[in-house]
This record gives sequence, structure tokens and C-alpha cells, in this order.
Amino acid sequence: MPAAFQAPAVVLTGAGASLELPAQVKRLGATVLLVTDRYFASNGLADRFVQALAREGIATTIFSDVQPDPTVRNADDGLRVLRACGAEIVVALGGGSPIDAAKAIAVLATNPGPLSDYAGYHRIPARGVPVIAVPTTAGTGSEVSKVTVITDTERDVKMMMYDANLLPVAALVDFELTLSMPAPLTAHVGVDTLTHGIEAYVSRKANAMTDPLALSCVRLAARNLYTAWSEPDNRAAREAMAMAACQGGLAFSNSSVCLVHGMSRPIGAVFHVPHGLSNAVLLPAVTAFSITGAPNRYADIARAMGLALPDTPDDAAASALADGLEALNRKLNVPRLRDCPGVDSARFERLLEKMASDALASGSPQNNPVVPTAAQTVELYRQAW
Ligand SMILES: NC(=O)c1ccc[n+]([C@@H]2O[C@H](COP(=O)([O-])OP(=O)(O)OC[C@H]3O[C@@H](n4cnc5c(N)ncnc54)[C@H](O)[C@@H]3O)[C@@H](O)[C@H]2O)c1
Ligand SMILES: [Fe+2]
Repeated sequence: MPAAFQAPAVVLTGAGASLELPAQVKRLGATVLLVTDRYFASNGLADRFVQALAREGIATTIFSDVQPDPTVRNADDGLRVLRACGAEIVVALGGGSPIDAAKAIAVLATNPGPLSDYAGYHRIPARGVPVIAVPTTAGTGSEVSKVTVITDTERDVKMMMYDANLLPVAALVDFELTLSMPAPLTAHVGVDTLTHGIEAYVSRKANAMTDPLALSCVRLAARNLYTAWSEPDNRAAREAMAMAACQGGLAFSNSSVCLVHGMSRPIGAVFHVPHGLSNAVLLPAVTAFSITGAPNRYADIARAMGLALPDTPDDAAASALADGLEALNRKLNVPRLRDCPGVDSARFERLLEKMASDALASGSPQNNPVVPTAAQTVELYRQAW
């Protein structure tokens, strides 16, 4: 089957890319809904953008009721504000949560909804209101992806929606906005990025357009994540991680994420563990489980990460990978699943079967080199415990 590669029409990268926001908005209209979270609404950053837009005659309404792991309610509330202000453009400022919320609000404005009708692949009938994404984490890659993840709190499910109609029209990737990330956030979102590169490369939907982006993402993340974590002001490392996040987003959005992401979402939905952290706790065990399905691909990743030499045979290189990922978690102080905040063992035991079944129902695990049974998925959760 032919492979499609879709990306925002404009991807601006480098220091100061976010200062181009007024110019990018002006190409599309004159009224903006700025979707952000409470942190950026109160620390002055959102106001700085509002003022820059105002200088160009652009009127902006701020919607900042977006929580980490945005909910259906956040999207519905944002839609009401969009309708009330009649904005022609949605600007997303923040990490993956405000960007995902903005993408959901934008498609709810032009489609009947509810959002639960759009969970899964290619289910959104019409393009949304144009979205310009300005990421502040490095990161989810949501600024360039066809994906949004919205939590249905009634069912405790993180709904994954994958549709080209979710693609932002422009992404302004300015690493200077990521310099303020504290160390744990840097680690979590950085391992999310690394996981995007790895999963995009081993996915059954990997293709010639996504492979170079995925490997570059893995290489950049392996070389720079620890430095960005331990030296937060290191501009070169921050810039490299922002590029890795953007490349990883382009790669997985046109290939797919796989089993780590499939299993990670139920942990987020049930225990509210941050997305990158739930990926990190699963990554070593899921990688070890999956290697037999694509040993040459996992070997390429081990080499890109510097865990194996160019001439190391595939089997040896691939088996160095799971150990290397475990060691990276230890360096970044990533805890075991049982030690993550909000996780308790009684609830874990009670909900294991549901988590495994929700993971498999999301569709992502079906792209994994080895597709697990429900019992194997339960066993993998136990290994991460
Ligand atoms: N759509 C996609 O393609 C995609 C891919 C991966 C993950 N996601 C989703 O993205 C969400 C997670 O996004 P995230 O990990 O970027 O974090 P986030 O947006 O949830 O933010 C986490 C916290 O970090 C703070 N923060 C963000 N940037 C900061 C900065 N520069 N300095 C200081 N604090 C900052 C936020 O205010 C918030 O309190 C999850 O819901 C996940 O499911 C989406
Ligand atoms: Fe992710």
C-alpha cells in the first residue's frame, strides 16, 4: 500500500521561531483563540504573545482551562469560548496538553462531534479551524502530528484520534521556550521523544520517508537528553532536543507509535502518570519483548544510540538496546512503575485486565513488530511494575 507523508505547511525551527507568530497568523485571519494552560496564562508568556499579536491588529481571546492530559470537558469548554469570540484561528501555546486540546477544539468547531465518535483512525469528516502550534516542551511532537489524545474521564480512557484533519497548519518550534523546563519534565518529555523515534522506526507502517527522521530523532535524543536534563541552560542540547521532538513527531505521525504508547495511555488514564514517564517505565521491557519481530531494526536503533558499534552483529546490537534503555532511565532518575506518584498496587491489580484490553483496543499495539496477546500485555505491565 502507498505510504502518505503529511506535515504542516510551515515548520519554523530555531531560536526566535515563535516571534514569527504574528506574521503567520496574519496570513490566515485577524482573530485568534489562544489555547494554553494556567502556567503560561500566569507567568506572562501568553500575554507577551497577545501583545505582539495586538501590535499587528490581531484580537486574541485566551482559553487556559486545559489540564495536563486534557479532558473532553476541557475541549468542550474551549469550543464554547471559540464560538463566543468567533476566532478564525486557534493558536496553541504549551506542551502536548494545550496543543492536543487546541486540535480537538478546532475540529469540534467544524464537525458535529462528540469527540468519542472520532477516537481511532481517520474518523474526522472535515478539516478543523486552522491551528498554529507553539510547543514549550521537547516533546510530544504534537505540533507536527495528525494525532490528538483526549481523556474521557467517565470511562477512564485516553482516547487517541489519528486524522489528517488534526494537522496544524504551522508549527513554530522555538527551543528557547523549553529552557524553563524543570529536570523531571525534561526527562519525561525527552523519553517520550526517544520513544516516538524508536516506535516510528520499528512500526509495521515505517516507510522510506519516516525512517531517516526516526533515526535522526533517536540519535539526537540519545546524544542530548542527559545533557539537557543535567544542564538546563545548555542551549545546544535544548535545541537538539526540540529538533528531535519535531522529527519524532513527523516520523510517528506518518508511520505509527506501537506497543509502548498503546500500553502507556491506560497508565495515564487510570493513575494520571505523566505521558512521558509512563512511556519510560515501559520502554525497556516492551523493547526486550519486541526485538524478535525486527532484530535488524532494533540493531539500527542501538547503533544510532551509540550502544553498539557499526559492525556489531544485529543480535548483539539489539540485545544491548534493552539494557541501554534501562541504564538511561536510571541516569534520568526514572522510577519503577510502582514508585510513580499516584500509583497503588491494589488498584493496579484490579485494573490490569482493563488496562491490557484498553491498550490493545487503541490500535497502536497492532503496529508493533510483535503483537502481544492480552495475557502477554498483562505480563509486560507486571515486568514494568
Ligand atoms: N498529539 C500527539 O501527537 C501527542 C504525542 C505524545 C503525547 N501527547 C500528549 O501530550 C500530553 C503531554 O504533553 P507534555 O508532556 O508536553 O506536557 P504537558 O503539556 O501536559 O505539560 C506538563 C506540565 O509542564 C508544564 N510546562 C510545559 N512547558 C513548560 C516549560 N517550558 N517550562 C516549565 N513548565 C512547562 C505545563 O504547564 C504542565 O504543568 C499528554 O496528554 C500526551 O498524551 C500527544
Ligand atoms: Fe508520546
